[in-house]
Amino acid sequence: METLDYRPRLHVLVCTNERPPDDLPSCAPNGAREVLDALRAAARRRGLRVEVQITPTGCLGWCHAEGTTVAAWPAGRFHRHVRPTDAEALLDHLLAERPARPT
Ligand code: FES
Repeated sequence: METLDYRPRLHVLVCTNERPPDDLPSCAPNGAREVLDALRAAARRRGLRVEVQITPTGCLGWCHAEGTTVAAWPAGRFHRHVRPTDAEALLDHLLAERPARPT
């Protein structure tokens, strides 16, 4: 086992869980992959690909039939109904809550 002491400025988890059509709603059929890609592109445009970790994940427990669920740490907040068009504003909001550490 190896332990890495790395704390990103933000760690954003994007639910990409997919359930069968006859099951509960899930995020994958509601644009989860597009949300993930849009958030990653927004981070890249800001030069924050390393500082901001954006990770696809399984169910975050806030399933809904509209949009995607996104969680951000260290704030520990969940955002529901996220659409790809929300990515820029959501990332700006999250970054404002978590200013860059002085170097
Ligand atoms: S399936 Fe996405 S939060 Fe549950």
